[in-house]
Amino acid sequence: MKTYIVGNWKLNFTVGEASIYLHKLLKRLPNYRDVEVVVAPPSVALQPLSLQIDRHKMKLAAQNAFYRDYGAFTGETSFTQLHGLVDYCIIGHSERRYIFGEDDKMVAKKVAAAVRNKITPILCIGETESERTFGETADVIRDQLLSGLSEIGAEDVSKVLVAYEPVWAISSAKGAKLASPDEIAEVVKLVREILKEVYGGETAEKTAVLFGGSVNPSNAGAYLTVPGVNGLLVGGSGLILSQFADIIETAKRVRS
Ligand code: PGA
Repeated sequence: MKTYIVGNWKLNFTVGEASIYLHKLLKRLPNYRDVEVVVAPPSVALQPLSLQIDRHKMKLAAQNAFYRDYGAFTGETSFTQLHGLVDYCIIGHSERRYIFGEDDKMVAKKVAAAVRNKITPILCIGETESERTFGETADVIRDQLLSGLSEIGAEDVSKVLVAYEPVWAISSAKGAKLASPDEIAEVVKLVREILKEVYGGETAEKTAVLFGGSVNPSNAGAYLTVPGVNGLLVGGSGLILSQFADIIETAKRVRS
């Protein structure tokens, strides 16, 4: 399986800044065949960047999309419209869930719409700090994972990238803490156990699981060597080109 390094730019960069960043990153990166580099720019930049990107080196992701293809849904963009522009879409990020009120049902429909439009979903799941404190982590992970996958066929499950992002470890969270490799290993193991129980061992093994939450060049190596982790979802550190490039190079080193 490839190692995935995904940069989530969130609501940062103008179209011009995004284009300059991409230009510099493309220049700096060799073509690492076993590391899949993905950037998720703001939606206004997707179209111009899709013309600029070298898909042998890097892929584009959307940060969000709506599950209906067309219609009276003011302000939304559909997966159908994104088809051909992006290869991936982040779905169910905790900022979507907690700031924009997306629930598990909405997330499930989006995962299905992505699969239907041949866009790989990056399904984000993760417990809040209080859920962890109250010992609810396993239940939250199980609920978010299984409901997120509930609208697609079993044969499509291994196409989904599952991103474990404990909400309390995301850099924008108040008093964010670093997740320890042991804490991550435990949840990643649980994700695969649930997948195995519901969809079988082969699907569990074939499904990529990423980690995200305050990843930076100094912890990327440790996180990438956590058993079962197949990649990283990077926020803040991915906005700084030298740091993102370092993380990609770390992934390459860890692989070889
Ligand atoms: P962070 O963000 O790396 O800034 O913690 C990760 C994310 O929200 O996906």
